[in-house]
Amino acid sequence: MNAFRISTDPAELDVGLIHRFLSEHSAWARGIDRVRVERSLRHSLCFGGYLDGRQIAFARVISDYATFANLVDVFVLPPQRGRGYARDLMAAVMAHPQLQGLRRFTLATADAHGLYAQFGFTAPLRPQTLMERYVPDLYQRG
Ligand SMILES: CC(C)(COP(=O)(O)OP(=O)(O)OC[C@H]1O[C@@H](n2cnc3c(N)ncnc32)[C@H](O)[C@@H]1OP(=O)(O)O)[C@@H](O)C(=O)NCCC(=O)NCCS
Repeated sequence: MNAFRISTDPAELDVGLIHRFLSEHSAWARGIDRVRVERSLRHSLCFGGYLDGRQIAFARVISDYATFANLVDVFVLPPQRGRGYARDLMAAVMAHPQLQGLRRFTLATADAHGLYAQFGFTAPLRPQTLMERYVPDLYQRG
């Protein structure tokens, strides 16, 4: 049995795996400490993807569940990439009952635009209106 299962049950999340991927292998959260990851999970809607009971994929949504959401920390473990699991995960995110009718759903991606475009994400309509405070290497500063 090799069915891919997606769950939003926080109790099922493999926090060690998520922390390990983000801190050691992600391009965006390298060096993040486990306590900060745990806090981020507690305050987010988290989607875990499981094969044979083992977590192989993850996505995290920060939202007010009414008007706005932001999608972050999306990953599929390297051996399982290219099999449509990120697409399945994204389909679950977009279909989630608490994420309907939002006026704006944002995300940032270095190179996976093709994945998110399939779900209606585009470059910002008015980039000149968007501002941010961003410190890309924050967690590597020790
Ligand atoms: C990006 C990532 C989540 C994709 O996972 P995946 O399971 O391999 O993706 P899928 O097999 O579900 O791909 C689904 C579709 O998205 C497209 N896609 C996936 N990754 C892509 C990428 N980097 N660039 C462009 N398109 C991509 C695939 O071509 C596929 O298109 P198709 O439906 O036309 O065949 C995975 O490569 C990953 O974990 N990367 C490292 C972490 C990362 O960069 N996350 C993104 C942060 S925003």
